[in-house]
Order: sequence, then structure tokens, then C-alpha cells
Amino acid sequence: MRSSTRTLDWPNQPLPFKIYTSLAPMPLSLTFDVSSPPTGEIDLNSVARLAYFSNGVTRVLHGVAFRAAACTGALFHIEVYCVAGDLDELEAGVYHYGAHDNALRQLRRGDFRQVLIDASGQEPRVAGAPLTLVLTSTWWRNAWKYEARAYRHAFWDAGTLLANLLSVADGQGLPARLIVGFADSPVNQLLDVDPDQEAAIALVAIGRDAAPPRDSPPTPPLNLPTRPLSAHQVAYPQITAAHAASSLPDGAAAAGWRARFPVRREARRPITDEPVEAVILRRGSSRRFSQAAITLDGLRTLLARATCAFDCDAFVACDLYLIVNAVDDLQPGAYAYSRDTRTLELLKPGDHRPMATYLDLGQPLAGDAAFNAYWLVNLDVLDNRGYRAAQLSAAIEAGQLYLAAYGLGLGATGLTFFDDDVTRFFEPHASGKSVMFLTAVGHPFRR
Ligand SMILES: Cc1cc2nc3c(=O)[nH]c(=O)nc-3n(C[C@H](O)[C@H](O)[C@H](O)COP(=O)(O)O)c2cc1C
Repeated sequence: MRSSTRTLDWPNQPLPFKIYTSLAPMPLSLTFDVSSPPTGEIDLNSVARLAYFSNGVTRVLHGVAFRAAACTGALFHIEVYCVAGDLDELEAGVYHYGAHDNALRQLRRGDFRQVLIDASGQEPRVAGAPLTLVLTSTWWRNAWKYEARAYRHAFWDAGTLLANLLSVADGQGLPARLIVGFADSPVNQLLDVDPDQEAAIALVAIGRDAAPPRDSPPTPPLNLPTRPLSAHQVAYPQITAAHAASSLPDGAAAAGWRARFPVRREARRPITDEPVEAVILRRGSSRRFSQAAITLDGLRTLLARATCAFDCDAFVACDLYLIVNAVDDLQPGAYAYSRDTRTLELLKPGDHRPMATYLDLGQPLAGDAAFNAYWLVNLDVLDNRGYRAAQLSAAIEAGQLYLAAYGLGLGATGLTFFDDDVTRFFEPHASGKSVMFLTAVGHPFRR
């Protein structure tokens, strides 16, 4: 990735938005009363709030439209679709959220929720959801820079987005369950996306106890025109092969796959003390840290909030490893974190700032941060679909760490890393494990 011979084809950089050119926009409100008590109502306003604070444009800097959630290379390849029954101010249909103009566009009219219910293998929360959001990744929009590695980024960048989404739903009193296990083809067909280009990677069932949909209309191809992404595209067959190999054929396979995961029954706690929307508007990845220490209490809070339970059909509990550079009253060193006891085990004392810098491809961010959190897991015990679940589970926790850090007035950034060297550094404790995600947290450097 660092090779000086590798150059990016800048004139061919893909458009960071999906823009349907023939559909009328339904503009969404940008005015939200974030201090009002949650109503638990699902209406157009809640759709607007969920879409904006997960995938909306929150600021424009140097001509780049930055979004609510962090994304590798600011390439913003994740799209959000809504599959709704009749809601207050929103008729039943399939909609795409256009981040470029904060508007919905109706792709299909009618109640198509049965498609998702069947694809999920009658998952009870999908079955009772008045609204289900579907996330996709458009491979080329990230592969332009990251090549085949973009396949992992689909789940990383969906994960940071989902951390926002799940927290915003929570704040509105809306139960939300992430669904990783679903039959891929019918969902892609419903959205009319070609999985060689763009594919569904997660469903989020919002709300519960809705009356079942009355019918299940057919989902013929739509062939809706969209603005071209770039002049030409490079194919990365490893991406489509990996996705096909982790696809599930039908609802029964989805239900069978899901049954292998334990049910989590932990109560969800807020990740920020103030309304999470306010934190999302302030969030932006740190470009430089000051090397200043954070408090031990701060570290404890951050780790508890990062690992805060969220409702998911297939959560993979990755192991958290830390490089602590500067935390008051804590010896610098490499640590393993126990989710169960919320304690740290010292693996290697010492100043590991130079190693942290090396491991994130030589970027000073990890060396200057107060600490770095690495999510590792043994992939051998997971199947191909489990690979997706592991990447997503880690990325959502990393997204929660982002929110928790900004909630405490600190800064954070996701980072890319040398996979095998991270594992080697944490050996023997981490033997056999692969890295899913890395986040650095610290005090932002201020001039
Ligand atoms: C998984 C992940 C990995 C990232 N890796 C790096 C990195 O290696 N170096 C870096 O400077 N920023 C990295 N970032 C930060 C992105 O560049 C940043 O999220 C993007 O530019 C959008 O900006 P924002 O987070 O300020 O909204 C990463 C972000 C994510 C989510």
C-alpha cells in the first residue's frame, strides 16, 4: 500500500454518491429536536434522522463532502436503502437515501417487506419491523484506491455507519436489530443492484410488532439510470469471489446459519452522555494527536462503551488488544482486555510508540495517540459468512469507540495496519488470530 510506484488514477476517481437521474427527490428535513424525549414512533422524521446521522453529509472541507461516519479514504461507498410498510408521511415502498441532496427516492411502490422476511428466514424482528434499512457497498468506489482490500472495507465502513445508526435509533427509543444472515440474491434483486458492482451487506430491522405485510409483490428489474461513477472501472475478481463465497442461498440457510450464534441479552447503555447526534456533528477523524495522556477512568469508560452490546443476529466477540502509550496511572505497554471482567492484562511493558507507528504503515497517528485498540479474532472457527460478521462486529465496536471518544472531548481515527505484524507483536497471546480493525484515540493536536 505504501509503494512509491503505486499511483492513483485521480481523473478516474469514482463519484462518492449514487445518484439516480430519473427519480424525483423527496427532500428530507434537516431540523431535528434532539433534546425532545424519544417517542418510539417510526415516521418520515425518524427515517430522515436515521439516514442523515448515519450516512449524511455533515461538513464540506476543501471540496470534499464529509459524512456522519468515518470511511476509509473518504471514498464513501456505503449506500442506505429503506424498505418500509405504510408509515406516517411515507407510503409503503423501497427507497434510496441520496446523501448528496439529503433526499429519498422511491425505487418501488408498495409493501415489499415480505421479501426481507423470507430472505432472513423469518427472523422475528425483521418479520415485525415496520421499517428495515439495507446497507450496500459499491465495490469500485473503494477498490479504486484499495484494490481487493476494499472487500474488508465494505464491512469496516458499514460498521462505523452502523455504530451511528444503532445509537441514533436508541436515542429515539426505536429498537434496532442488525441482521447479518440473509439470502443475498433476493435482497439485491429487491434493490435492483448487481452484486458484481454493488451488494447488500447488512439489514437493520427498526421497530417491532408491526402487522405482517399483506402481500408480496414481484420484484422485476428496474434498470433505473444512475450517474456514471467514473470513466472506466477496474474489476477485482477477488472481491466478487469472496462475496459469492460468503453468500447464503435462501432463507432456510440464513436461519440455519444464524442458529449457531448465541443470543445476547445484555441491556444497551448510551455511548455518549449528550444526544449522540451532537457528537456525530462534531466527529471528524483526528489527523494528528498531541501525545498527551488521558485518564485511566477515561480509558475504562471508552472500553466499556466501545464494547457496549448492540442487538445483532450474529455478533462475533473479537478480542481487544491495546498499545497504551499515555494513560495516567497505567504503565505504558501492550495489553489484552477482558470483556467479561473489564480488566487489562499486561502482556509487554514498555514504550511501544515506535512499534505502534510502524504497525499502522508508519503513520505517526498511532505513535502519538494515547492508546491504540486492535480487534483480533481467530477466523478459523468461523465460516465464510462468519468472516463478514467478524469484520462488522469489530467495526461497529470501533465506531462506538469513535463516538465515545468524541463524547469525552477526545479524538479518534480508524487506521490501516500490517496484518501479520500486528498479530506477531501480540504473540503468543494473539497466536492464530487475525486483525479486524484498529482505532487510535488521544488528544487532538491543536496549534
Ligand atoms: C477503517 C478505517 C481506516 C482508516 N485508516 C486511516 C489511515 O490509515 N490513515 C488515516 O490518516 N486515516 C484513516 N482513516 C480515517 C479516514 O481517512 C476518514 O474517516 C475519512 O477521511 C473521513 O473523514 P472523517 O472521519 O473526518 O469524517 C480510516 C478510517 C477508517 C474508518
